[in-house]
Amino acid sequence: MPDKLRVDLSGAPQTMLATLHAKALDADLPHPILGDRFAKEIVDRIDYDWSRTAITAANSPSVTTRSAHFDRWARQYLAVHPKAVVLHLGCGLDSRVFRLDPGPDVDWFDVDYPDVAELRTRLYPDREHYRVIAASVTDPAWLTEIPADRPVLVIAEGLTMYLTRDDGIALLRRIVDQFPSGELHFDAFNRLGIRSQWANAVVRRAGARLDWGIDGPDDIVHALPGVRLLAWLSPFDSPTFRDVAWYYRALAQAMSLVPSLRYMAQYHRYAF
Ligand SMILES: C[S@@+](CC[C@H](N)C(=O)[O-])C[C@H]1O[C@@H](n2cnc3c(N)ncnc32)[C@H](O)[C@@H]1O
Repeated sequence: MPDKLRVDLSGAPQTMLATLHAKALDADLPHPILGDRFAKEIVDRIDYDWSRTAITAANSPSVTTRSAHFDRWARQYLAVHPKAVVLHLGCGLDSRVFRLDPGPDVDWFDVDYPDVAELRTRLYPDREHYRVIAASVTDPAWLTEIPADRPVLVIAEGLTMYLTRDDGIALLRRIVDQFPSGELHFDAFNRLGIRSQWANAVVRRAGARLDWGIDGPDDIVHALPGVRLLAWLSPFDSPTFRDVAWYYRALAQAMSLVPSLRYMAQYHRYAF
């Protein structure tokens, strides 16, 4: 058994340990929501006090229903665009490229900060048509290396809230300007979610700071001409939420009565 890797991160990069831990705990459940066996293997190879992530099996669905949702949307897109370029932004240690195992004509790029990217390359095997890019997504330089003659699928799960609005919009605008067509899939917190970030234990314990709150799709389509809405929903309304435990569903039902709580987190899907 190789030595475990010591990991020492802080701020936004540390939050990906929480999402990874959630997926690993879920994989051990009798009825997993995501069933990500890669997450379990990776967690076992990292030397870290996982209790620091504030994630337990009971609250793991907040992550796993989201990942399962974005997997679903990605599969739908790739079924119709088997030669797409995928930009998986703020990928953390998520195993999506292995979970989805896209066909040989898809070029997949996982992008995250250098510390996270370096960990990724140590923990996951190489694969064809796949690259890890070590950069801040807000740095315009990395995007110029990507072939821009094919449709693009952008997946940004658990990322937008860590960006400023200006940086986030500029990033999406660069992508929309560079590619002939594509889809943008991302989640967001509304402004209430940003204001109440002190109550978010994952963010607080990582010492991260949330910035960009999105109150609905108008915020995006007005800022990005040529981009049209395909779907916007609360996580509670996703088909992936149907499999959560009764107490989680009961909480969601209560929160759904208040729009700002129902849409505290949101899933966004756009085409251009
Ligand atoms: C909550 S984690 C989500 C990780 C992964 N998408 C998942 O769902 O498991 C947030 C991730 O966004 C990354 N991130 C935040 N801001 C970033 C930036 N400006 N550039 C690159 N990555 C960023 C962090 O390093 C971290 O890996």
